[in-house]
Amino acid sequence: MTIDIISVVPDLLSGPFSHSILKRAQEKNLLNINVINLREYTTYARAQVDDYPFGGGAGMVMMMEPLVNALESLQKVRQYDEVIFLTPDGETFHQQMANSLSLKNNLLFICGHYKGIDQRFRDHFITKEISIGDYVLSGGELAAAVLTDAIGRLIPGVLNDETSALTDSFQDNLLAPPVYTRPESFRGWNVPPVLMSGNHKLIEEWRSEQAINRTKERRPDLLD
Ligand code: ADE
Repeated sequence: MTIDIISVVPDLLSGPFSHSILKRAQEKNLLNINVINLREYTTYARAQVDDYPFGGGAGMVMMMEPLVNALESLQKVRQYDEVIFLTPDGETFHQQMANSLSLKNNLLFICGHYKGIDQRFRDHFITKEISIGDYVLSGGELAAAVLTDAIGRLIPGVLNDETSALTDSFQDNLLAPPVYTRPESFRGWNVPPVLMSGNHKLIEEWRSEQAINRTKERRPDLLD
């Protein structure tokens, strides 16, 4: 899969993809991530990419021309399954969206800044608008990093243990059960005995019960 990310602050994205699972995914050629500097696609002086909003008001709006130049130039190299705008007024991201996006070949993320992007770009070029939560970030970069991470780790072959994504929270609309490791007893706090029983059927039953209880307690909305 290729994920291309258009940004006016590409340096913000120099860290998150260079470590751990996403780094390995790129080394294995399962994931190709490119950060594209929008300023390289403007013909305006001083690499301008934004302008005052028509009708007045606070803030700046990202202009059509650099965005369309960047998109059309990238589309000469690959066709995108989705052109995604990261924006607080988009559909809220969740695990099922990550699952379905992880099956695509090419994704393009557009990071907004200032007051947003010209509505005509949204109307004519964007295929999906996604928010990572009900709060406003300074720009779409951190949201693009969140999506890239959540999607990238689900690409087949990326995780060492193929089953580990299946037991993540949310995969079956349940939160994950608690986990424990050595030592068996720490300051008198003991691991639940069932986990030490060696009885896999009992352990699975306990985990499933814990997942249901935890979900009822913390996120009853997931059970609706
Ligand atoms: N850009 C600014 N805030 C955002 C959010 N919550 N989700 C996605 N993109 C954003």
